[in-house]
Amino acid sequence: MKVVVLGASGEIGTELVKRLRGQGIEVSEAHRSTGVDAYAGTGLDAALTGADVVVDCVNVTTTSARKAVDFFGTVARNVSAAATTAGVRRVVCLSIINAADPAVNAKFGYYQGKAEQERVYAETLPGHRLTFVRSAQWYELARQMMSSLRLGPVAAVPHMRCRPLSAADAAAALADAVTAESNDDVEVAGPDVLDLADIGKAIAQRSGSPRWVVGIRFGGAAVRDGGLVPERPNVVATTTFDQWLDAEFAA
Ligand SMILES: NC(=O)c1ccc[n+]([C@@H]2O[C@H](COP(=O)([O-])OP(=O)(O)OC[C@H]3O[C@@H](n4cnc5c(N)ncnc54)[C@H](OP(=O)(O)O)[C@@H]3O)[C@@H](O)[C@H]2O)c1
Repeated sequence: MKVVVLGASGEIGTELVKRLRGQGIEVSEAHRSTGVDAYAGTGLDAALTGADVVVDCVNVTTTSARKAVDFFGTVARNVSAAATTAGVRRVVCLSIINAADPAVNAKFGYYQGKAEQERVYAETLPGHRLTFVRSAQWYELARQMMSSLRLGPVAAVPHMRCRPLSAADAAAALADAVTAESNDDVEVAGPDVLDLADIGKAIAQRSGSPRWVVGIRFGGAAVRDGGLVPERPNVVATTTFDQWLDAEFAA
């Protein structure tokens, strides 16, 4: 089996490549510095030739609905067209639990982009060639947010009630979906319901930076009040936040 990982240098892409290679699977890493621009559409046809499965882990950092919808929709359209031309057996799209729900994403531009990504894939690929793996938020997301929403010693993290997990556990579920016989969609979440702002505060306390973390109201009430929490995830990851934190900051 040959798998192309789009976004292979990212937070989850790196973990996924490691995990698939650990299972003896042939993996091709694709992102812009390997000559593949999934948004511009360049290098995709060559990258997908001979692939059995393509995993879309590409990302853009934005809070703008316009930018997110344009980016994720365009990438999905380009990947879908290249996968069809190359005769790829299956595309696995990494998405986010409940992000496509208009009741959840009405005030969250990035999630509107994820909704467009799912819509374009579903419209352009037949169901038997498409799998959505929808993950809950990762512990690492709090760290990503603290680095982009930072002013000197102060960082902000939105209050998001979610059921988070480690990116490594999400990558494991993604790898299982890549190698599964069935192409059923999968929801993967963590062991506990937590507020992402508290995760940010705990990471900052352990690392000593930033000095202050403030929880902010951002992205609408549904995101704060449990709209992101899945009812019955298919996969429940076992690494707790405290275990992840201890491993991250182990001497
Ligand atoms: N963070 C979470 O909690 C969470 C939860 C569930 C799902 N997800 C989803 O997981 C996916 C990956 O997120 P991440 O945080 O791992 O991403 P990330 O760390 O921001 O990495 C993004 C990856 O996309 C590549 N990329 C960006 N623009 C590209 C382009 N035009 N063409 C080709 N490659 C491009 C980047 O490489 P280059 O810059 O070298 O091109 C990099 O490899 C996203 O779809 C996100 O919505 C995230």
